[in-house]
Amino acid sequence: MALSTGRFGKYDPQNPTKDRITDIGPRHYWENFPPVIQKNYGKWLYHEIVEPGVLVHVSETGDKVYTVRCGSPRLMTAQHIREICDIADKYCDGYVRFTTRNNIEFIVDSLEKVEALKKDLWSRKFVSGSYKFPIGGTGASITNIVHTQGYVHCHTPATDASSLVKAVMDELFDYFTGMTLPAKVRVAVACCLNMCGAVHCSDIALLGIHRKPPIIDHEVIDQVCELPLVISSCPLGAISPDKTPEGRRTLKIKVERCMFCGNCYTMCPALPIADKEGDGVAILVGGKISNAVSEPKFSKVVVAYLPNNFPRFPEVVQTVKKIVEVYASDARKHERLGDWAERIGWEKFFEKTGIPFTEHLIDDYRLAYDTFRTSTQFKFTEAAWNVCKAAGGID
Ligand code: HEM
Ligand code: HEM
Ligand code: SF4
Ligand code: SF4
Repeated sequence: MALSTGRFGKYDPQNPTKDRITDIGPRHYWENFPPVIQKNYGKWLYHEIVEPGVLVHVSETGDKVYTVRCGSPRLMTAQHIREICDIADKYCDGYVRFTTRNNIEFIVDSLEKVEALKKDLWSRKFVSGSYKFPIGGTGASITNIVHTQGYVHCHTPATDASSLVKAVMDELFDYFTGMTLPAKVRVAVACCLNMCGAVHCSDIALLGIHRKPPIIDHEVIDQVCELPLVISSCPLGAISPDKTPEGRRTLKIKVERCMFCGNCYTMCPALPIADKEGDGVAILVGGKISNAVSEPKFSKVVVAYLPNNFPRFPEVVQTVKKIVEVYASDARKHERLGDWAERIGWEKFFEKTGIPFTEHLIDDYRLAYDTFRTSTQFKFTEAAWNVCKAAGGID
């Protein structure tokens, strides 16, 4: 592919600031609105979900727009984007949009066009068999999984994002194309506890974790790292200054204080922490970001560790499936997963899902006290006794 020779000519490495364009910001969104959206901007009266993946919005001018939403893998080739553009050219006068969960939305103005578009979208498959544009993700469904870079691009992951997401979405596919749940279930993945994205506020969250402390490369650490920065990066104060036998400046880590967050590695390349056996996936549940019915909630850890069993993560996938199935059969209409767990009580959540309660799930960080039970209200379950045992109480 040729270098740009546009308005300002070719980039000249000898003179890098010549003709340099900067601080121009993104294109104004108005330019990319379909005319019908421009015309009815701010005038929408109501909307309905026609069927899974298809919405209709009705304006006070009488105009109607139909939106067909389909899944995307987020990580995509330019070739795939060109195919999206071809579809948009064919049915939508060249307009298309992506959602905040990286689904694709095609907008048309009649039900006949919806039918033709649906038929076309469902007919497109990758050579290996996966749908290119599965339709769904609306209403009480499991829509796309917000996720991160994993081994594709980041240097701090404890698991992979794209492969884990593919494995989970394959298993939950019928929930994407249907609207059979009590309420929407948001699933998110982050490959380390930097939590890029939405894991801390999702109904179900899969999070890459380490279980071993970093290795210290004493040979290079004082050359490649700013040591005070590294010391102050540790949430537990586990890192302190040290000297090698040769008298070089280095750091030491109090291993019994380290909880393997990997923050110090983010600051310092001489503290690698990734480990094949140690690394894996934790599962959190019960977060939400909307203010509907209840306040927004953080998700809570319910499974401390499952192995990184590449490429299909069977243990993780089965646990997620189980949580969704139990929630789907037990929760009330409109009840988000966190609302349900709080109503029945977390000991009942563990009993119903069959997830074992371990000491890892008991908060022990600074404000932990507020998460303990300062009440005699609880239900007699095996899980409640396990909490008691895990906390060192009566057994
Ligand atoms: C070592 C630290 C980090 C590195 C090297 C890193 C690197 C990157 C890179 C290369 C991208 C892709 C950018 C692109 O596609 O143009 C990205 C996207 C992103 N990062 Fe980070 N990042 C880091 C930490 C974080 C943290 C701490 C957060 C949030 C608290 C975060 C949130 C995001 C989000 C939301 C995206 C966009 C994802 C998407 O659009 O699909 N990142 N990051
Ligand atoms: C008043 C403040 C905010 C509101 C109303 C808001 C609202 C939303 C909504 C409605 C979504 C889409 C969720 C979904 O489709 O399930 C979303 C996604 C997201 N939000 Fe926020 N948000 C707010 C603040 C923040 C802040 C402060 C951060 C980061 C520090 C953040 C990070 C994200 C990320 C990473 C996503 C996922 C984006 C994606 O999938 O492309 N949000 N937010
Ligand atoms: S969650 Fe962690 S490992 Fe994953 S992309 Fe973000 S910083 Fe990298
Ligand atoms: S991994 Fe986290 S807890 Fe352990 S030493 Fe580094 S910053 Fe501290």
